[in-house]
This record gives sequence, C-alpha cells and structure tokens, in this order.
Amino acid sequence: MLFSRRYSPRSEPLLLTDNRRRRSPFILLNLIPLYWLLSSRRSRRAALNLLCLLALLAFGAWRAFPGETREWLDRVEEEYKARLPNVHLPAFSRNAKHPIEKLMSDGQRAWEAKLRRQSKTLDEAVAEYNRRYGFAPPKGFDKWYEFALRNGFQLVDEFDGITSDLAPFRRLSGQEVQSRTRSAARQETMFSVSIADGLAVAGKEVRAGGVKKGDMGRARGFVQSLQAFVHDLPDMMFAVSGLAESSVYPTWEVSQPHNFSAQLGDAQDFISKINDFPVWYKYTNTCHPADPVRQTPDAYQFPLLSPILPPTNFDDVSTEGANPFTRFLRGSEADLDFCNQPDKFYEHGHFYSGWPMFNETFPVFGPGRGPRSMDIRIPSYYYIVPLPKYTYGYDPELGHGQDDDPHDPEWEDKSGTMFWRGATTGGGSSPAGRYAYYARHRLVQLAGQDNPSSMPILHRTRTSAWEETRIDVNALRTTALDVGFTKAVQCAPYRPGGCDGMMRDYRFVDKVPLYEAYKSKILLDLDGMGYSARSMALLASKSALVKSTIYQEFFDDWLQPWVHYIPLSSTFEELFNIWAFFVGVPAHMVDPTLPAAPAHAGEVYDPKGDAALKSIADAGREWKRAHARIVDMEVYTYRLCLEWARLWYQDERDMDYVPGQFEDAD
Ligand SMILES: *[C@@H]1O[C@H](CO)[C@@H](O)[C@H](O)[C@H]1NC(C)=O
Ligand SMILES: *[C@@H]1O[C@H](CO)[C@@H](O)[C@H](O)[C@H]1NC(C)=O
Repeated sequence: MLFSRRYSPRSEPLLLTDNRRRRSPFILLNLIPLYWLLSSRRSRRAALNLLCLLALLAFGAWRAFPGETREWLDRVEEEYKARLPNVHLPAFSRNAKHPIEKLMSDGQRAWEAKLRRQSKTLDEAVAEYNRRYGFAPPKGFDKWYEFALRNGFQLVDEFDGITSDLAPFRRLSGQEVQSRTRSAARQETMFSVSIADGLAVAGKEVRAGGVKKGDMGRARGFVQSLQAFVHDLPDMMFAVSGLAESSVYPTWEVSQPHNFSAQLGDAQDFISKINDFPVWYKYTNTCHPADPVRQTPDAYQFPLLSPILPPTNFDDVSTEGANPFTRFLRGSEADLDFCNQPDKFYEHGHFYSGWPMFNETFPVFGPGRGPRSMDIRIPSYYYIVPLPKYTYGYDPELGHGQDDDPHDPEWEDKSGTMFWRGATTGGGSSPAGRYAYYARHRLVQLAGQDNPSSMPILHRTRTSAWEETRIDVNALRTTALDVGFTKAVQCAPYRPGGCDGMMRDYRFVDKVPLYEAYKSKILLDLDGMGYSARSMALLASKSALVKSTIYQEFFDDWLQPWVHYIPLSSTFEELFNIWAFFVGVPAHMVDPTLPAAPAHAGEVYDPKGDAALKSIADAGREWKRAHARIVDMEVYTYRLCLEWARLWYQDERDMDYVPGQFEDAD
C-alpha cells in the first residue's frame, strides 16, 4: 500500500506484484538492524524503546505534515521506480503463468485503476494537479475542464507528458520564452503559429538568406486543432517543426539547471546547417560527460559499411543460462538509454539521419519525440487532417475516416499471420549505406532470408500446460510473417547496385491500400525515419497492434501496453514467442513427422491465445474510439496551450488558476 499511494489515492493499488517487489528491499533494510538489536539481550530493551520512539516520530510527522510525508514517499517511490529495469521479468518455470499472461493482467489492473481514479469534479482536478506537480494549474483551467467534460473526455488527470515536456522551459523568463520562440520559428525547417485576437494563423517567415523547407501542413494542422477553443486563448506564438523528426538536442552541459543560459541570441547560432551531421552525435552530446560515449567517442562510431547482414541469430537465444521467455517488454523502448547501452544505437535508423537540429533549449512543437530530445509533443497532423494511408475507414467521398471499415473482416475471417507493408524509409542515410541495420530492413530480411537456425518456442499443449520446443526458424518465418517492402525510397546509396540492388536483396511486394493489412490478426508497426503515423489506424482496426518504437507521442499517458497493444523490442528476438503465445503453433511445426497442412484464414491453433489476442484487438479499437478521437486531441492541445500561455506571460501577469476568480474578459 505504502508505495502505491501516489497513483491510486482513491482506488486499488496498481501493479500489486510490483509493489511487493518494490517494497521488499526496504523491509529488508529495516529488518537487519532490528534483528541485530533484538538478538542481543542487553540492547533489547533499548531497541524496543528506540523503535517505539521512531514509530511515534513517524506517526507524528504523518499527522503534522501529511502532504509532505506523502510527497516524500512519492519521491522515494519515483526514485525506486526509475531503477526498475524495463525489460526482464523473473525466470520462467513450467508451472508458472506465461510471462505474457502476467503482463496482460498487470496491464489490465493498471488501466482499470487509471480509469477509476480520475477526478470527478473541477475541485478534484485542481487538487490532483497540485498534488502531482506541486504548483497550481494554469489560468483558464476551469474552462478547459468544462470543455473536457462537455466532450466526454475521460482521462482528465493524465497529462504528465505535458509537464515533463515543458519542464526545461519553465526555467526561462517569459521574455526569453518569447524571443526563443520567435527566433526558432524563423529557421528553415520551422513554421510559426500565431494567435492574435482569438484567431490562429500559420506563418513562414524565414531568417535572412534562408529558404523555407519542411512541410507547412504540420503548422496548419496545429492551427486546425486550435479552432474549438482559440477564442479563449491569449495572444501568443508557437514554433512548429516542419519535420516529423525531433529537432531539439541541447548538450548535457547547457541542460544543467545550474548552467542554464538565461539569454540566448539568434537561434541561427545554435542550429546545424547541414543535413549530414547524424543524430547520433547530437544524442551523445546530451549524455553525461563521464559516460563512455563521451569519454571515448571513437569506440562508438557507426558500424562499418557491410553487405547485407545475416538475420537475427536465434541460436544465441538459448535456453541454457538465460531464459528466452522473459524478454518481453513492459512498455515501449522510448526510455532506452543509449548513453549507457551505446551498442543499441546501431539498430535504429533514427541515429543515421541528419537534419537541422538545435543544440540549445529552444521551444519547438512536434509530433514524435526522439530519445533525449526536448521537443514539445503535439498530436501529429496526420491524426487531425486525415490521409487515406494513415486513416482507418477512410472514405474518399467524405474525406475522413469512419468507425467501421467495410474492408475490415470479422475476427473469425482473419488469418493468424503478422502483417507488415511499407516503404524502405528507416534512416536518413547519414552516414549512407547502413540500411541493413534499420528496423524495417531487419524485419523484411528476417521474413525473407533463409535462416537455418532454430529457436526455443513456448507453446500450449492440449492440456493447457506450457511446453518448450525448438522450432526451425525457416518454418516460423514463413508461417508467421507476411512482410514485405512496397516501395524503394532513399535507396540510391545502397551498395551494391543502388535501388536495383536493394530490390534484389530484400523482399518487395505489390503496393496495397492500408486496409489490406486488416486481413491479418496481428499488425506490426515499426519506426521509419521518425515515429509511425499508422498506429492510430491499426489500433482502430479489428486486428491487434504489435508495435516497436523508440519515440514518444502525445498519447503515451493514455495508451496501456499489453491492454491496447503489444510492445515489441527493436531486436525482434521475442517476436516468434509473441506469435506462438497468441496464435499457437501448428502441430506439424512441433512434430515434423506429421504432415504439413497449408494454413487457411481463420484457422486457430490455440483458442485461449486467440481469445487473449482478440481482447487486445478489441481493447485497442475501443481505446481509439473512446480516448483518441479528434476532440480528445483537442483537449490535450487546449491544456498544452494554457500551460504555454503561462510561460509566455509569466513576467507580466499572474497566470495561475485561482479557484472562484472571475476571468477578465480580454
Ligand atoms: C556550463 O556551460 C558551458 C558552456 O556550454 C560549459 O563550457 C561548461 O562546462 C558548463 N559547466 C558545467 C558545470 O556543466
Ligand atoms: C551549437 O551549434 C552551433 C551551430 O551549428 C555550433 O556553431 C556550436 O559550436 C554548437 N555548440 C556546441 C556546444 O556544440
């Protein structure tokens, strides 16, 4: 109970088992001196007296300063949680629950607790805001709350992402916030969005000698998302990125609170001008100066240009020693720490890209926040201005999506394959030619290339017990994966042979409309050069989303892993075990002496797994309809704007929300 207080003041503790695990070291720490004292007869009385005194003191502190005590407990919990590893679960024993069952029930419990604990009134929402962040909500909070309520918005307390995105800018004066915004918006890949007299417009002023690049649609989409409430916002401005990728990577030195620059001049002096300076170098500059990537940068260079690599070596995934069935992620890989695990950077096209990036703290609004970047998240404009390729149930006549897509088959008619189609995007090719490392290329290669290894697969037997069988990866990849590229882009630097070479080395298939995916029960989603805007449509479908990403988006506080979607690692090493858990394994793959029967759509090898998979597919679809409607994104953006207005005007007026106070009419 102790450590769950922060997250569930009015409801059951969340992640029960976690709490137990979290608490045990503390209990142990307390028990050691206690045991020592009590076991020595002479000190027993003194020890008991001391204990009583301590208990009394703790109780007194709790009564006298309940808020502070709770805050202290919260901090201890945060600290402890930060040290919990994301990935590894306890080793698997045959009698135990499958780790995925546990992840699913933990997720379900957390999600239900989150839904239950939301504030029910404005006063509760204000109190919850104060409790979480230690300061008052911004001016206009009452109108925002009313807007959220009127539109059936459910997660009124879940905006931790906004607070953390804005935290670095809270150190700046209002004047500095304004001058950095104006200056940032004039850079080549940035656009401005200005609000004046209750009207918002996108602008493309450019610095002297510069040429505007990037997509102004992103700023226009942001303007569109303001329309429902812009008349209630004060005059102010935003710098909206014209790129899908994050642009703000202040160095570790300048991000330190004690070393924060109070005043910066022209943003032009802090933005890279060339596109061949890869993100990896920007990223390493954000690491602690003592981290290996900064101490010996030469040791962490890009991998050598190599011809196509072998697919993931599953012979490494052995049952001896390490347990292969514990490597399921709890959530996304957005918190992967590449400063301390530098080898992992090879696997992400993100780092092989270059575009204009700031090395100081400039406030820039954009859709997908890359690891350690300081961009401020807004909903992707693709979610607001619908495009056929990213929108579920897109109707060309109506020009937008619908709740039902006539092309989306019923569950029973879907096949048990894992589907992915897409273009060869994955990195910006700086340095060029490292395609084989990008996530999309590795997946297509895994699906298409001969792989004579085998891997341990955990699957249900007829009696519902778990059994482990080594299964041929060639059988797995051809049965489980329906994967291919549909378009070669940015492929000229491919060696050997440029675009033709890439098309020869990887599996290319015909381009298909988005809805073609829905014939599969499992829809894979991978990062390209930036975040994948397709997830929303895939969630809305009647299939289940399996997603691998290192980006954060605006909805991260709302989407529950293992309830609404299945998180996947960027190595894909657990991919076939995810498949085996949910789809089951056909008998002839377990026992090669049996005749192989060709799979057909709707065939179910494991009814329990199938039901679990359907529950995720249904929950994701329900989530999209209940929590990711356009109006839910407007609720997010509205609250973000109030926070931004407070920073913008903090020098001039009191921008905190004061309950019961009349808003002036301006
Ligand atoms: C403060 O920032 C300056 C300029 O970037 C840097 O040279 C210096 O090392 C930083 N100091 C600390 C203590 O981080
Ligand atoms: C920041 O970027 C500017 C412009 O590219 C560059 O001149 C400057 O050296 C960079 N500063 C640091 C600390 O990397």
